Amino acid sequence: TVIVLDFGGQYNQLIARRVRECNVYCEIYSYRTPLEKIRAKNPKGIIFTGGPNSVYLPDAATIDPEIYTWGVPILGICYGSQLMMHMLGGKVCRAPEREYGKTAVDLNTTSPLFSGLPEKNVCWMSHNDYIEQAAPGFEITASTPNCPVAAAQDTARGLYCVQFHPEVMHTENGVQMLHNFVYKVCGCSGTWKMDSFVAATVEELRKKIGDGRVLCALSGGVDSSVCAALLAKAVGRQLTCVFVDHGLLRKNEREQVCEVFGEGGAFDINFICVDARDRFYQKLAGQTAPESKRKIIGEEFIRVFEEEAKKIGAVDFLAQGTIYPDVVESGLGGESAVIKSHHNVGGLPDKVDFKALVEPLRDLFKDEVRQAGRELGLPEYLVSRQPFPGPGLAIRIIGEVTPEKVAIVQDADAIWREEVDKLPMSQRPSQYFAALTNMQSVGVMGDERTYDYAIALRAVTTTDFMTAEVTLLPTETLTTAANRIVNEVKNVNRVMFDYTTKPPATIEFE
Ligand code: XMP
Repeated sequence: TVIVLDFGGQYNQLIARRVRECNVYCEIYSYRTPLEKIRAKNPKGIIFTGGPNSVYLPDAATIDPEIYTWGVPILGICYGSQLMMHMLGGKVCRAPEREYGKTAVDLNTTSPLFSGLPEKNVCWMSHNDYIEQAAPGFEITASTPNCPVAAAQDTARGLYCVQFHPEVMHTENGVQMLHNFVYKVCGCSGTWKMDSFVAATVEELRKKIGDGRVLCALSGGVDSSVCAALLAKAVGRQLTCVFVDHGLLRKNEREQVCEVFGEGGAFDINFICVDARDRFYQKLAGQTAPESKRKIIGEEFIRVFEEEAKKIGAVDFLAQGTIYPDVVESGLGGESAVIKSHHNVGGLPDKVDFKALVEPLRDLFKDEVRQAGRELGLPEYLVSRQPFPGPGLAIRIIGEVTPEKVAIVQDADAIWREEVDKLPMSQRPSQYFAALTNMQSVGVMGDERTYDYAIALRAVTTTDFMTAEVTLLPTETLTTAANRIVNEVKNVNRVMFDYTTKPPATIEFE
């Protein structure tokens, strides 16, 4: 195991992910974690992340200096590098020239970190402070025109630091630097694979759960499905999954989830499918404001779940498919600034009787979760599902939600996805769906005048879902989908394509 100590940097997730891409298992802990806990993990290496503070300010994030005496190799990145230097007697101060972006760097390739790399490299810099003077015992191994100590090392103590960010794509050979750290410096063997994650997690879950009972809310999305599959494998019938059909799911979604997790499916668990469609439709009747709709759905969902949980009685554990980006985005656990409050975290039902939470996917990124799902034998249509919001189709229907409108958007969406899925994987957008605008307009069908709805098609490319670009699709895909939608979906006489980026629009419509 390699441990990433989080000092609040923006790229921490990426660091962990790059290490795992080297087939080395990696976990992220806050710098506030007690040292004994970190030591107990028996790490082969430790990485200090970047962070927003200045190391020389009084309340700056820091760490017990005992960590330097363990003999475990440490790599400090950005803030982490400044912290290491500052603590060990170097000098860190405000840089005369702040560096941001791609920067030319000269590397000393005799350093184990830069072994096998060209001497001239491009690295990604993002800092206001810099290391003016390396700490005693350290040798400088890289520099840029504005940064005399862009990297330094004390090989005897196994301490390494880089001012730039090897984890981001813009640093040429950055992956190789991390590779060098985990293999050449830490001596990791690189035997970790996603199936080791599945096996180890199943083992851990068994130990933790014992003969306890587990309740899991299954949404049908990738995360909760993989979470349920892991638990099913670990504890079988001790697991009860509750799947709520709120009437805002995509076409056939309920059937697909029931097929996999229900009676006669792949897993031997207790599976409850609650048909709560009417309840949700009743609550949503007459509601047009986006925030009220979201709130009603969130609350009703918890209520339905609580009622089901009551029927089951006390359980020992509540399972959640929280994944790493959720933890970071919610500002829970992670050290980086709160970005948005997430639907799946923090909305815990308070009337469910359970002793503890289990969140087996807390350390994984989305594509790692998908990979684990494949290892667990989940069908590809579940594993490769696009993100789907908790409030479901309700935020893809502008204005009031009615069962009729849900049916329209379900049918149009199924056609749109079917047409886009004919494209090769590499051309497919990150997220694509149909939405129902609340607009009706005049059309003509046969000899009849119509006054029907307009469907909006969305297709965006994004990596982090915080910003998004419009995916340019072949005209053929667009026209075929539009034709099929007006012909096959009742009450639709117009199809539009949404050409807006995020920002200023959001990906969803409400
Ligand atoms: P927006 O519309 O904010 O969407 O640009 C960004 C991404 O988040 C998804 N999304 C949600 N996911 N609960 C969720 O679990 C929600 O309430 C929610 N709202 C938006 C959206 O599908 C997109 O991928």
